[in-house]
Amino acid sequence: MTNHLPLKIVDIIENITGKGTAEKPIPLHEPDFTNSNATNYLNNCITSGWVSTAGEWVNKFEKELAKLTKAKHAIVVSNGTVALRLALKLKGVKANEEVIIPPLSFIASANAVSHLGAIPHFVDIELDTLGISPEALIKRLEECSVLKDGKVFNKNTNRKISAIMAVHIFGHPSRVDELRKIASVWNIPLIEDCAEALGSYRYEENSIKHCGLFGEIGTLSFNGNKIITTGGGGPLLTNNADIAKKARHLSTTAKKNHKWEFEHDEIGWNDRLPNINAALGVSQIEQIQKKLKIKYRLNQIYTKAFENLEELYTLNQPEFCKSNFWLNNIILKERNDSTLKEIRNKILELSHQKFIYTRPVWKLLSKQKPYLKSPKGDLTNSEFIEFRIISLPSSTKIYS
Ligand SMILES: Cc1ncc(COP(=O)(O)O)c(C=O)c1O
Repeated sequence: MTNHLPLKIVDIIENITGKGTAEKPIPLHEPDFTNSNATNYLNNCITSGWVSTAGEWVNKFEKELAKLTKAKHAIVVSNGTVALRLALKLKGVKANEEVIIPPLSFIASANAVSHLGAIPHFVDIELDTLGISPEALIKRLEECSVLKDGKVFNKNTNRKISAIMAVHIFGHPSRVDELRKIASVWNIPLIEDCAEALGSYRYEENSIKHCGLFGEIGTLSFNGNKIITTGGGGPLLTNNADIAKKARHLSTTAKKNHKWEFEHDEIGWNDRLPNINAALGVSQIEQIQKKLKIKYRLNQIYTKAFENLEELYTLNQPEFCKSNFWLNNIILKERNDSTLKEIRNKILELSHQKFIYTRPVWKLLSKQKPYLKSPKGDLTNSEFIEFRIISLPSSTKIYS
């Protein structure tokens, strides 16, 4: 191993983030309410008593999200996992059916499938976008599926393949326009997990479209580590009025609209975002353009700082995309597996010793205990990249 490489990398990171200490470490990504209206809006909730799952901030936040993304409808719920589970339910996913997902994602993408009793089916990613590879998707569908009454079934398990979930990793849009075409040829609904991708767009023909609007439903997350945060929260985005109406209904205990009667026409969930969280969301979305500019700048700084290190490359905006640059990443090129792990672990260890919280990418979902038996195609790219990615501190506070 190039003994000095981990040290050199950590020095470069520290030059950008500044020094971390036990009292004030450099987080991977922290909430940023600097110069925002958050305190005023929260006080308004407290003094008015509107703190729970209805109120003017919920309506305002939904309107602002729709305006930013140009979605016809935004429905805010309590977190990104819940939004994904609702999206799958709304597209008719049922127990013992399969949903195609990439193995390189946060566990929530798979768990949302499991929460409906369905089973994730892993299809490989491509190395440019880190999203599902359209080529791998076609190959997998051709090798494992059989058509019955116009529906696609996995011939190895006899289970229906009832949805495809694209995931936009680190804010970089996957090739979702291609994925949508494949989904439509096979007549399988496409939904998008855009938890990390608020403010990320992909060009299609001559226009630019926000992630989440290529498939039938897109979901986001406003967890504390995302580009904007509501503490916890996440919307569904859709252009379909019927889906939007059903999403509101199912996430509000499926209660029929009436001033005083309590009648519920199916088993719904209590999933709506509280007004108090939505108030935080409005204060954050007011600052989204500023945050996107800082993110872009931070990515340029990291890219420049690492450009002369030939042992790695920085993950950048894919072609035909406008990324929100949520997390910056370096990708190690080392080919020897044990040297690679040694370098990776040393970088993590050294940076954590300096209270700079770099992070490896998630262990592949296909290797996580609950999903060891899930069906999967050839996962060469996912396995190749898994130990090569290191995420770097990317909070807007580093640069603001
Ligand atoms: C890719 C991805 N999907 C889903 C989620 C789930 O969102 P939440 O934490 O809001 O439930 C997250 C992040 O938290 C994520 O990064």
